[in-house]
Amino acid sequence: MGILPIRIAGDPVLREKAKKVRKIDASLQKLIDDMIDTMHAAPGVGLAAPQVGQSLRVVVIDTPDDGLKVLINPEIVKASGERRVMEGCLSVPGYQAEITRSRQVTVKALDRDGKQVRLKAADNLLAQALEHEIDHINGVLYIDHLQSADELIPIRPSVDDEAPEAEVSLA
Ligand code: NI
Repeated sequence: MGILPIRIAGDPVLREKAKKVRKIDASLQKLIDDMIDTMHAAPGVGLAAPQVGQSLRVVVIDTPDDGLKVLINPEIVKASGERRVMEGCLSVPGYQAEITRSRQVTVKALDRDGKQVRLKAADNLLAQALEHEIDHINGVLYIDHLQSADELIPIRPSVDDEAPEAEVSLA
């Protein structure tokens, strides 16, 4: 178990199309555990393997309502509807922005035991995180969905823990 450094926008690994996982072995289980620790420590609601420098199709998500999900080789099988959401990313620190995401998202993947799973989410943080993290393994960052960098809103660091300036979920 351990906390890994998070790669920041500009790092080429974030722009690669990540490789499909072929074998779920001990080293992959260790990577998954480290990704969960790193996500929780950040803190963030999601993390994709390229964000810790591994060009692999592995994603972890933990939202308050839906709990921890580990997804290997996830694929969006259906996405419909549109909604505007505020979004941030651990690889783009200090900013948030409003972007368009789908309302309903269905994903198929393997869990960490290699079992086929299907996730359905609608109008919630899980739906948003699924699209955000699957973007990551395709080399896409949320800022790519903006028309212009002017749409980025700086997150003011909170000097007072009791009065956080921003309530944005980073993934
Ligand atoms: Ni992200």
